Amino acid sequence: MSGWLAGLLALAFFSPLAFIYARAFAGRVQAAAAARGRSAVAVAAPKLIWPLVLGCALALRLGGGDLAEWQEAAASRTLAAALSALWLLGSLAAILFFVTIPFVLGRFLGALLAAMGKFSGERDDPLSFGSRGFKREGSETAGQESARMGFTVAIDGPAAAGKGTIAQRLAAHYGFAYLDTGLLYRAIGRLAAERGLDLDDGEAMGAVARALDPAVLDDGSLRGREAGELASRVAVHAPVRAALTEFQRGFARRPGGAVLDGRDIGTVICPEAEVKIFVSASPEVRARRRTDELLAKGRAVDYGTILQEVRARDERDSGRAAAPLKAAPDAALLDTSELDIEEAFRAACRIVDASPHPRSGA
Ligand code: DC
Repeated sequence: MSGWLAGLLALAFFSPLAFIYARAFAGRVQAAAAARGRSAVAVAAPKLIWPLVLGCALALRLGGGDLAEWQEAAASRTLAAALSALWLLGSLAAILFFVTIPFVLGRFLGALLAAMGKFSGERDDPLSFGSRGFKREGSETAGQESARMGFTVAIDGPAAAGKGTIAQRLAAHYGFAYLDTGLLYRAIGRLAAERGLDLDDGEAMGAVARALDPAVLDDGSLRGREAGELASRVAVHAPVRAALTEFQRGFARRPGGAVLDGRDIGTVICPEAEVKIFVSASPEVRARRRTDELLAKGRAVDYGTILQEVRARDERDSGRAAAPLKAAPDAALLDTSELDIEEAFRAACRIVDASPHPRSGA
């Protein structure tokens, strides 16, 4: 049987597996594209380099040519060496054909499906093994059982480190409730500014916080830059923080599990949380992400200004006396500087899955 015929037969045999992988890949690409405000094609393109190399190597190997002849014909030594390397890689890919073929095929098909906007709801990667804890639907694990009784994931970190996206995705993945605690401070800052109050008056800000109606958190405009600045200013006051503590603790302990993200969740609000993650990234990376995000929304912004804002906010959030931004001593550190959102999410899942058996009740 010729190499090509064997290849075609393997292709037909592995198509269903490749399709399953393609679905998952398309979902991941679209989730990452949405989170980063980029097109699915831009997100998928760098992820096609390895499948492309492997595909070429496999085709070269199965094509039935003669390596020695090609090397002789090669114009330079470098080209001859590259051909040998590709040949070797092709041999390996052919031996591991049951992985290579679904991978190569699945990635290309997945990229095409992502570009067409298909399967945007798919998130789990069926080819990733070894996760334990809450992951599988249908069969309830010990983790899921405890989750029904109260399980808190506390996520802290500076602005634009990716903690909000990670927290949201963890909540969706494990079926937990989600609270973006920054919104509480944003709402207080906004209300105080609208009423013309002095943002440096801790008692007055505390009164606004005590009267806060959680319904105002649904206002989408709270996520803007201006509200973030106001939030950072009112968040320095101890009376404001005290007024919000009980609400956040109640949320964290709700049956079914909860994910909260903020600055002091693992240190002050829920020091007893089952999982604590401190998400960070360099100020430059965070400023770049925030700038790209705003540019994608059509806002005219400048990287230098955003970097200054990020640094100023870090300084205020970390330098204040009341519940400053810092990692809890037992928090897992997750630096997202070099990770895309999918990689960061998977790293966070590994942290949750590796947490000791959650305590019951409470
Ligand atoms: O996470 P965010 O960007 O929405 O937060 C806005 C501000 O609110 C942030 O600069 C500091 C403050 N904050 C806080 O002090 N404690 C929290 N748990 C959440 C936010």
